[in-house]
Amino acid sequence: MAVYIATTSAPVNIACIKYWGKRDTKLILPTNSSLSVTLDQDHLRSTTTSRADPTFEKDRLWLNGIEEEIKSGGRMATCIAELKRLRKELVEDKDASAPALSTFAVHIASYNNFPTAAGLASSASGFAALTASLAALYKLPSTPTDLSLIARQGSGSACRSLLGGFVAWNVGTLESGADSLAVQVAPETHWPDIHALICVVSDTKKGTSSTSGMQRTVDTSPLLQHRIKHVVPQRMEDISAAILARDFDRFAEITMADSNQFHAVALDTSPPIFYMNDVSRSIIAVIEEYNRVAQLPENGGKRKAAYTYDAGPNAVIYAPSANIKEIISLIVRYFPQQETFKDPFGLFGTAGVGAG
Ligand code: PMV
Repeated sequence: MAVYIATTSAPVNIACIKYWGKRDTKLILPTNSSLSVTLDQDHLRSTTTSRADPTFEKDRLWLNGIEEEIKSGGRMATCIAELKRLRKELVEDKDASAPALSTFAVHIASYNNFPTAAGLASSASGFAALTASLAALYKLPSTPTDLSLIARQGSGSACRSLLGGFVAWNVGTLESGADSLAVQVAPETHWPDIHALICVVSDTKKGTSSTSGMQRTVDTSPLLQHRIKHVVPQRMEDISAAILARDFDRFAEITMADSNQFHAVALDTSPPIFYMNDVSRSIIAVIEEYNRVAQLPENGGKRKAAYTYDAGPNAVIYAPSANIKEIISLIVRYFPQQETFKDPFGLFGTAGVGAG
Protein backbone atom coordinates (compact mmCIF):
# COMPACT_ATOMS: atom_id res chain seq x y z
CA MET A 1 0.00 0.00 0.00
CA ALA A 2 1.33 3.43 -0.90
CA VAL A 3 2.38 5.74 1.93
CA TYR A 4 1.83 9.45 1.33
CA ILE A 5 4.09 11.46 3.60
CA ALA A 6 6.30 14.58 3.35
CA THR A 7 8.53 16.53 5.73
CA THR A 8 9.78 20.09 5.25
CA SER A 9 11.13 22.80 7.49
CA ALA A 10 10.93 26.60 7.46
CA PRO A 11 12.89 29.23 9.40
CA VAL A 12 11.65 32.30 11.26
CA ASN A 13 11.86 35.72 9.69
CA ILE A 14 12.38 39.04 11.45
CA ALA A 15 10.83 42.16 9.92
CA CYS A 16 12.76 45.38 9.26
CA ILE A 17 9.61 47.12 8.01
CA LYS A 18 6.86 45.91 10.31
CA TYR A 19 3.48 44.50 9.37
CA TRP A 20 0.95 45.85 11.85
CA GLY A 21 -2.74 46.06 10.97
CA LYS A 22 -5.19 44.06 8.87
CA ARG A 23 -7.63 45.46 6.33
CA ASP A 24 -9.29 42.03 6.03
CA THR A 25 -9.12 39.82 9.11
CA LYS A 26 -10.38 36.63 7.45
CA LEU A 27 -8.06 36.66 4.42
CA ILE A 28 -5.33 38.35 6.52
CA LEU A 29 -4.73 41.26 4.18
CA PRO A 30 -2.41 43.86 5.71
CA THR A 31 -2.77 47.64 5.90
CA ASN A 32 0.85 48.11 4.75
CA SER A 33 3.64 46.29 2.95
CA SER A 34 6.45 44.83 5.06
CA LEU A 35 9.97 43.51 4.55
CA SER A 36 11.94 40.94 6.51
CA VAL A 37 15.08 38.89 6.67
CA THR A 38 14.73 35.11 6.77
CA LEU A 39 17.20 33.59 9.26
CA ASP A 40 19.03 30.76 7.61
CA GLN A 41 20.70 28.59 10.18
CA ASP A 42 19.30 25.60 11.97
CA HIS A 43 18.51 27.12 15.36
CA LEU A 44 15.13 28.75 14.71
CA ARG A 45 13.07 26.44 12.56
CA SER A 46 9.79 24.59 12.45
CA THR A 47 9.86 21.11 10.92
CA THR A 48 6.57 19.62 9.83
CA THR A 49 5.60 16.16 8.65
CA SER A 50 2.25 15.58 6.93
CA ARG A 51 0.68 12.27 6.07
CA ALA A 52 -2.49 11.59 4.07
CA ASP A 53 -4.22 8.24 4.42
CA PRO A 54 -7.66 6.92 3.40
CA THR A 55 -8.07 5.31 6.83
CA PHE A 56 -7.67 8.60 8.77
CA GLU A 57 -11.02 9.80 10.05
CA LYS A 58 -10.29 13.52 10.39
CA ASP A 59 -7.52 16.08 10.03
CA ARG A 60 -5.37 16.19 13.18
CA LEU A 61 -2.40 18.29 14.31
CA TRP A 62 0.33 17.80 16.92
CA LEU A 63 2.52 20.72 17.96
CA ASN A 64 5.69 19.71 19.78
CA GLY A 65 4.07 16.34 20.51
CA ILE A 66 0.84 17.72 21.97
CA GLU A 67 -2.37 17.48 19.97
CA GLU A 68 -4.01 20.83 19.15
CA GLU A 69 -7.59 21.21 18.07
CA ILE A 70 -8.12 22.21 14.42
CA LYS A 71 -11.04 24.60 14.85
CA SER A 72 -13.53 24.48 12.02
CA GLY A 73 -13.35 27.75 10.06
CA GLY A 74 -10.12 28.68 11.89
CA ARG A 75 -6.81 29.58 10.27
CA MET A 76 -5.33 26.10 10.38
CA ALA A 77 -8.47 24.63 8.81
CA THR A 78 -8.40 27.33 6.13
CA CYS A 79 -4.80 26.57 5.14
CA ILE A 80 -5.45 22.81 4.98
CA ALA A 81 -8.65 23.33 2.93
CA GLU A 82 -6.89 25.67 0.49
CA LEU A 83 -4.06 23.18 -0.07
CA LYS A 84 -6.52 20.33 -0.63
CA ARG A 85 -8.37 22.52 -3.14
CA LEU A 86 -5.10 23.16 -5.02
CA ARG A 87 -4.29 19.44 -4.99
CA LYS A 88 -7.63 18.74 -6.67
CA GLU A 89 -7.44 21.63 -9.13
CA LEU A 90 -3.78 21.47 -10.12
CA VAL A 91 -3.04 17.74 -9.87
CA GLU A 92 -6.06 15.42 -9.67
CA ASP A 93 -8.30 17.24 -12.21
CA LYS A 94 -5.39 17.25 -14.67
CA ASP A 95 -4.25 13.67 -14.23
CA ALA A 96 -6.87 10.97 -13.70
CA SER A 97 -4.24 8.52 -12.46
CA ALA A 98 -3.15 10.81 -9.56
CA PRO A 99 -4.30 9.42 -6.18
CA ALA A 100 -7.23 11.36 -4.73
CA LEU A 101 -5.24 12.71 -1.76
CA SER A 102 -7.53 15.74 -1.59
CA THR A 103 -10.26 13.43 -0.29
CA PHE A 104 -8.10 11.86 2.47
CA ALA A 105 -7.74 13.31 5.94
CA VAL A 106 -4.24 14.41 7.00
CA HIS A 107 -2.23 14.02 10.17
CA ILE A 108 0.32 16.78 10.74
CA ALA A 109 3.14 16.86 13.31
CA SER A 110 5.20 20.02 13.79
CA TYR A 111 8.24 20.72 15.97
CA ASN A 112 9.93 23.99 16.79
CA ASN A 113 13.59 23.70 17.72
CA PHE A 114 13.26 26.82 19.91
CA PRO A 115 10.89 27.74 22.77
CA THR A 116 7.46 28.34 21.24
CA ALA A 117 6.55 30.91 23.87
CA ALA A 118 9.77 32.90 23.60
CA GLY A 119 8.25 35.54 21.37
CA LEU A 120 10.43 34.52 18.44
CA ALA A 121 7.89 34.43 15.61
CA SER A 122 7.04 30.73 15.93
CA SER A 123 3.74 31.24 14.10
CA ALA A 124 5.65 32.48 11.03
CA SER A 125 7.90 29.45 10.73
CA GLY A 126 5.07 27.14 11.83
CA PHE A 127 2.54 28.11 9.16
CA ALA A 128 5.27 28.33 6.50
CA ALA A 129 6.46 24.79 7.31
CA LEU A 130 2.88 23.48 7.38
CA THR A 131 2.12 25.01 3.97
CA ALA A 132 5.37 23.75 2.46
CA SER A 133 4.86 20.27 3.90
CA LEU A 134 1.34 19.85 2.50
CA ALA A 135 2.45 21.33 -0.84
CA ALA A 136 5.20 18.69 -0.98
CA LEU A 137 2.80 15.91 0.06
CA TYR A 138 0.35 16.98 -2.65
CA LYS A 139 3.13 17.49 -5.23
CA LEU A 140 1.78 20.93 -6.08
CA PRO A 141 3.49 22.67 -9.01
CA SER A 142 3.28 25.96 -7.04
CA THR A 143 6.14 28.42 -6.48
CA PRO A 144 7.05 29.71 -2.99
CA THR A 145 5.36 33.00 -3.92
CA ASP A 146 2.14 31.11 -4.87
CA LEU A 147 2.30 29.29 -1.53
CA SER A 148 2.82 32.56 0.34
CA LEU A 149 -0.85 33.35 -0.45
CA ILE A 150 -1.84 30.33 1.63
CA ALA A 151 0.63 30.68 4.51
CA ARG A 152 -0.55 34.31 4.80
CA GLN A 153 -4.00 33.06 5.75
CA GLY A 154 -2.48 31.14 8.68
CA SER A 155 -0.39 33.98 10.09
CA GLY A 156 0.38 37.10 8.07
CA SER A 157 4.12 37.13 8.68
CA ALA A 158 4.33 33.42 7.73
CA CYS A 159 4.05 34.31 4.04
CA ARG A 160 7.56 35.81 4.20
CA SER A 161 9.14 32.63 5.67
CA LEU A 162 8.54 30.69 2.44
CA LEU A 163 11.35 32.60 0.76
CA GLY A 164 14.96 33.02 1.80
CA GLY A 165 17.08 36.14 2.06
CA PHE A 166 15.40 39.56 1.99
CA VAL A 167 11.67 39.26 1.43
CA ALA A 168 8.89 41.79 0.81
CA TRP A 169 5.21 41.13 1.46
CA ASN A 170 3.32 43.41 -0.88
CA VAL A 171 0.23 45.01 0.60
CA GLY A 172 -1.73 44.40 -2.65
CA THR A 173 -4.90 46.15 -3.81
CA LEU A 174 -7.24 43.31 -4.80
CA GLU A 175 -10.13 42.38 -2.50
CA SER A 176 -9.45 38.70 -3.17
CA GLY A 177 -5.93 39.08 -1.76
CA ALA A 178 -4.42 37.52 -4.90
CA ASP A 179 -1.72 40.21 -5.07
CA SER A 180 -0.93 40.29 -1.34
CA LEU A 181 2.02 37.95 -1.60
CA ALA A 182 5.68 37.55 -0.69
CA VAL A 183 8.50 38.16 -3.16
CA GLN A 184 12.25 37.92 -2.79
CA VAL A 185 14.01 41.29 -2.91
CA ALA A 186 17.45 39.64 -2.82
CA PRO A 187 18.65 36.12 -2.10
CA GLU A 188 20.72 35.36 1.01
CA THR A 189 23.81 35.03 -1.20
CA HIS A 190 23.51 38.69 -2.18
CA TRP A 191 24.50 39.88 1.31
CA PRO A 192 25.62 36.92 3.44
CA ASP A 193 27.70 39.14 5.71
CA ILE A 194 24.67 40.38 7.70
CA HIS A 195 24.12 38.46 10.93
CA ALA A 196 21.25 38.51 13.40
CA LEU A 197 21.97 38.41 17.12
CA ILE A 198 18.92 37.51 19.19
CA CYS A 199 18.81 38.81 22.75
CA VAL A 200 16.11 36.98 24.71
CA VAL A 201 15.09 39.59 27.28
CA SER A 202 12.15 37.53 28.50
CA ASP A 203 10.93 34.12 27.42
CA THR A 204 7.43 34.44 28.84
CA LYS A 205 4.46 34.68 26.47
CA LYS A 206 3.54 38.23 25.42
CA GLY A 207 0.60 39.98 27.07
CA THR A 208 -1.30 41.22 24.00
CA SER A 209 -1.44 38.85 21.03
CA SER A 210 -0.57 40.33 17.65
CA THR A 211 -4.13 39.66 16.42
CA SER A 212 -5.90 41.58 19.17
CA GLY A 213 -3.17 44.24 19.33
CA MET A 214 -3.43 44.95 15.60
CA GLN A 215 -7.20 45.18 15.74
CA ARG A 216 -7.06 47.68 18.57
CA THR A 217 -4.42 49.75 16.76
CA VAL A 218 -6.44 49.79 13.51
CA ASP A 219 -9.52 50.87 15.49
CA THR A 220 -7.95 53.61 17.58
CA SER A 221 -4.55 54.89 16.41
CA PRO A 222 -4.38 58.05 14.25
CA LEU A 223 -0.61 57.53 13.98
CA LEU A 224 -1.18 54.19 12.23
CA GLN A 225 -3.09 55.98 9.45
CA HIS A 226 -0.17 58.38 8.95
CA ARG A 227 2.28 55.47 8.93
CA ILE A 228 0.28 53.51 6.34
CA LYS A 229 -0.15 56.43 3.93
CA HIS A 230 2.92 58.57 4.37
CA VAL A 231 5.74 56.50 5.82
CA VAL A 232 5.82 52.83 4.82
CA PRO A 233 5.59 53.15 1.00
CA GLN A 234 8.76 55.29 0.84
CA ARG A 235 10.55 53.13 3.43
CA MET A 236 9.86 49.99 1.41
CA GLU A 237 11.55 51.60 -1.60
CA ASP A 238 14.43 52.98 0.44
CA ILE A 239 15.24 49.78 2.32
CA SER A 240 15.03 47.68 -0.87
CA ALA A 241 17.52 50.07 -2.49
CA ALA A 242 19.80 49.86 0.58
CA ILE A 243 19.70 46.04 0.46
CA LEU A 244 20.47 45.95 -3.26
CA ALA A 245 23.36 48.39 -2.70
CA ARG A 246 24.53 46.49 0.42
CA ASP A 247 24.42 49.83 2.24
CA PHE A 248 24.37 48.77 5.91
CA ASP A 249 24.32 52.33 7.26
CA ARG A 250 21.06 53.11 5.45
CA PHE A 251 19.60 49.64 6.14
CA ALA A 252 20.26 50.17 9.87
CA GLU A 253 18.82 53.69 9.90
CA ILE A 254 15.53 52.54 8.31
CA THR A 255 15.26 49.32 10.35
CA MET A 256 15.62 51.12 13.69
CA ALA A 257 13.26 53.94 12.65
CA ASP A 258 10.61 51.43 11.63
CA SER A 259 10.89 49.41 14.84
CA ASN A 260 10.52 52.63 16.83
CA GLN A 261 7.51 53.73 14.80
CA PHE A 262 5.83 50.36 15.23
CA HIS A 263 6.22 50.65 19.02
CA ALA A 264 5.04 54.28 18.86
CA VAL A 265 1.91 53.07 17.05
CA ALA A 266 1.38 50.47 19.79
CA LEU A 267 1.65 53.27 22.36
CA ASP A 268 -0.78 55.38 20.30
CA THR A 269 -3.38 52.61 20.64
CA SER A 270 -6.18 52.95 23.19
CA PRO A 271 -5.64 51.44 25.71
CA PRO A 272 -1.89 51.61 24.90
CA ILE A 273 0.16 48.48 24.27
CA PHE A 274 3.67 48.18 25.72
CA TYR A 275 5.71 45.44 24.11
CA MET A 276 9.18 46.56 25.17
CA ASN A 277 10.37 46.67 28.77
CA ASP A 278 13.15 48.58 30.54
CA VAL A 279 15.80 46.09 29.41
CA SER A 280 14.62 46.39 25.78
CA ARG A 281 14.92 50.18 26.01
CA SER A 282 18.37 49.94 27.60
CA ILE A 283 19.54 47.76 24.70
CA ILE A 284 18.30 50.51 22.34
CA ALA A 285 20.36 53.04 24.32
CA VAL A 286 23.50 50.87 24.12
CA ILE A 287 23.17 50.37 20.33
CA GLU A 288 22.37 54.05 19.74
CA GLU A 289 25.52 55.03 21.65
CA TYR A 290 27.58 52.39 19.81
CA ASN A 291 26.36 53.86 16.52
CA ARG A 292 26.92 57.45 17.65
CA VAL A 293 30.59 56.71 18.26
CA ALA A 294 30.87 54.71 15.03
CA GLN A 295 29.38 57.65 13.11
CA LEU A 296 32.13 60.06 14.19
CA PRO A 297 34.23 60.98 11.14
CA GLU A 298 37.39 59.54 12.73
CA ASN A 299 35.63 56.17 13.16
CA GLY A 300 34.36 55.85 9.59
CA GLY A 301 31.10 57.82 9.90
CA LYS A 302 28.72 54.85 9.57
CA ARG A 303 26.35 52.86 11.78
CA LYS A 304 27.55 49.42 12.85
CA ALA A 305 24.39 47.76 14.21
CA ALA A 306 20.57 47.90 13.97
CA TYR A 307 18.08 46.83 16.63
CA THR A 308 14.52 45.78 15.94
CA TYR A 309 11.71 44.54 18.22
CA ASP A 310 8.54 42.64 17.33
CA ALA A 311 5.46 42.33 19.53
CA GLY A 312 7.53 41.50 22.61
CA PRO A 313 10.58 42.64 24.61
CA ASN A 314 13.26 40.59 22.81
CA ALA A 315 15.86 42.41 20.71
CA VAL A 316 17.13 41.29 17.34
CA ILE A 317 20.33 43.06 16.40
CA TYR A 318 21.43 43.02 12.76
CA ALA A 319 25.09 43.71 12.08
CA PRO A 320 27.87 42.87 9.62
CA SER A 321 29.76 39.83 10.90
CA ALA A 322 32.90 41.85 11.70
CA ASN A 323 31.01 43.75 14.43
CA ILE A 324 29.25 40.84 16.14
CA LYS A 325 32.01 40.00 18.61
CA GLU A 326 32.20 43.62 19.78
CA ILE A 327 28.40 43.85 20.12
CA ILE A 328 28.24 40.68 22.21
CA SER A 329 30.96 42.03 24.52
CA LEU A 330 28.94 45.24 24.94
CA ILE A 331 25.70 43.40 25.68
CA VAL A 332 27.40 41.05 28.14
CA ARG A 333 29.12 44.01 29.87
CA TYR A 334 25.92 46.05 30.27
CA PHE A 335 23.57 43.14 30.94
CA PRO A 336 25.57 40.73 33.08
CA GLN A 337 23.92 37.33 33.50
CA GLN A 338 23.86 35.14 36.58
CA GLU A 339 25.32 32.41 34.43
CA THR A 340 28.38 33.14 32.34
CA PHE A 341 27.66 33.68 28.66
CA LYS A 342 27.56 30.41 26.79
CA ASP A 343 28.31 30.25 23.11
CA PRO A 344 25.82 27.61 22.08
CA PHE A 345 26.30 27.93 18.33
CA GLY A 346 30.06 28.19 18.09
CA LEU A 347 30.35 31.61 16.52
CA PHE A 348 29.23 33.82 19.43
CA GLY A 349 25.60 32.73 19.21
CA THR A 350 24.75 34.38 15.92
CA ALA A 351 22.31 33.24 13.28
CA GLY A 352 23.25 34.04 9.72
CA VAL A 353 20.80 35.49 7.26
CA GLY A 354 19.10 33.70 4.41
CA ALA A 355 17.30 30.42 3.85
CA GLY A 356 18.96 27.13 4.57
O1 PMV B 1 1.96 37.40 11.69
P1 PMV B 1 1.66 37.85 13.07
O2 PMV B 1 0.21 37.96 13.33
O3 PMV B 1 2.38 37.05 14.12
O4 PMV B 1 2.20 39.37 13.24
C1 PMV B 1 3.56 39.72 13.25
C2 PMV B 1 3.75 41.16 13.57
C3 PMV B 1 5.18 41.60 13.83
O5 PMV B 1 6.00 40.52 14.15
C4 PMV B 1 5.20 42.56 15.00
C5 PMV B 1 5.76 42.36 12.63
C6 PMV B 1 6.15 41.55 11.43
O6 PMV B 1 6.08 42.10 10.32
O7 PMV B 1 6.58 40.39 11.57
